[in-house]
Amino acid sequence: MKILVTGGAGYIGSHICVELLQAGHDVVVIDDFSNSQPEVLEYIHEITGKNVQFYEFNILDEAKTEKVFQENQLDAIIHCAAFKAVGESVSKPIEYYTNNLMTTLIVTKMMRDYHVNNIVFSSSATVYGDPKVVPLTEDCPLGETTNPYGTSKAMMERVLTDVQHAYPQMSVTLLRYFNPIGAHASGLIGENPKGIPNNLMPYVMKVATGELSCLGVFGDDYDTPDGTGVRDYIHVVDLAKGHVAAIEKYSQPGVHICNLGTGKGYSVLDIVKAFEKVNGVKVNYEIKARRPGDIATCYADPTRAKEELGWVAEKTLEDMCRDTWNFAKKH
Ligand code: UD1
Repeated sequence: MKILVTGGAGYIGSHICVELLQAGHDVVVIDDFSNSQPEVLEYIHEITGKNVQFYEFNILDEAKTEKVFQENQLDAIIHCAAFKAVGESVSKPIEYYTNNLMTTLIVTKMMRDYHVNNIVFSSSATVYGDPKVVPLTEDCPLGETTNPYGTSKAMMERVLTDVQHAYPQMSVTLLRYFNPIGAHASGLIGENPKGIPNNLMPYVMKVATGELSCLGVFGDDYDTPDGTGVRDYIHVVDLAKGHVAAIEKYSQPGVHICNLGTGKGYSVLDIVKAFEKVNGVKVNYEIKARRPGDIATCYADPTRAKEELGWVAEKTLEDMCRDTWNFAKKH
């Protein structure tokens, strides 16, 4: 298949490109490098021995986006391009809603006009809000989102669902990611956020390298085994493989919703201890106040992905810690 990956130079998009190329697909990428670097394209080539067809611009440029659809007979789209910093979304809601919603509308308009009937969308477990019960199945009700980033994901799910209802020949797949971490085993691609990271694993990585002095653990009084927040951390390579399975298996018309998680929950302190043990490094931390908007526990029921996609997360927490550190040392 010929597959367009929007945001294909980003952290998750680049791993998806690698897995698609290795599965024998042709890959077209649109990325504006707003949160990624051009070298990533060389690294994808180094890992796979293949090239993606690359276009540098923001999808908000509708004329340029249309040209990509004119120049390529696309079979499917994996739509990853979006702004994703939770904190920044609170201070820049206009930019976040404009970028995330408008790009999705432009992509769906092009799909309709150029008869591309298969889209896989990067959604997030954030759409479940504060879960009443765990593990989360896809049938759990959607919850209150606590920031414009999360709300934009819920809105994009709704837009795509309405589009599928209007154009029933389409296959719309909403993949709800839990907490992607780790890096490619080559150490060439991974997550390297600019400035101070919001998410746990990049912060742990930067404390281990000495770039940051101390990790703040946001709360130790949650109703969890050690009092710190519990999440379902999933290796980014497993996550990327889930997209290859979804693009191949969910080709029939309809709206397909699927969690991508491991089904296991680890606490903040589990992550710190595993990172220290696997990599033989010290991660200084101190307990801080809870972070507003955080929830105690969130992990997936991954049964549907197993049954419908034949996909299960294979990598362990040790793999996630080791691959993150390997990436850090190389960059
Ligand atoms: C966050 C976003 C979520 C987004 C996801 C992307 C919020 C409220 N949610 O999820 O919408 O889809 O990232 O991966 O931000 N922690 C610390 N110290 C830190 C950073 C995090 O203790 O410096 C803790 C948090 O309190 C939480 C856990 O680590 O218990 C994971 O946090 P994080 O990596 O930010 O992910 P989420 O909050 O689960």
